[in-house]
Amino acid sequence: MAHNRLSDIRANLIDDARLKRVNSVLSKYQRRPDSLIEVLHVVQESYGYIPLPMMRFVAQELRLPPSRLYGVVTFYHFFSTKPKGKHTCVLCTGTACHVKGSKAILSAIQKRFDVAVGEVTRDGELGLQTARCLGCCSLGPVAVVDDEIVAKTDAQGMLAILEKKVSSR
Ligand code: FES
Repeated sequence: MAHNRLSDIRANLIDDARLKRVNSVLSKYQRRPDSLIEVLHVVQESYGYIPLPMMRFVAQELRLPPSRLYGVVTFYHFFSTKPKGKHTCVLCTGTACHVKGSKAILSAIQKRFDVAVGEVTRDGELGLQTARCLGCCSLGPVAVVDDEIVAKTDAQGMLAILEKKVSSR
């Protein structure tokens, strides 16, 4: 799901686990402007990068000028404004997902696509990232592939989804 407008973002806060997670960190820090870095970390972890509409959303929520966010995001190397790879897979390795087998899924992806966490396959097709929690623990193991949440998955299921993505060039 692409979130291109602030109204879409707000409308989806209820349904999208990633947005819920961003909203929950905003609430945790009472939308204080000095929580910017922490909030951006959660956005990056949840989406695999920092989408422009999310930058605008966070700026508005923290009452900061968008230029300030852009400056921070482009200054720190661990933030990225573009998806890493043509397709992205953010696999949750948080406690609940770990207990339900995310480690085996991660190993299977790394082995099959010869890619390390935080890296992109040599052909640029798939970027792999991990997250500490994607905010929907009861659906674990969870991953976000491009913009879709993959719930209650396993190594075989995950590889099938990724192989389909990568082969549909
Ligand atoms: S631990 Fe994976 S979604 Fe929370």
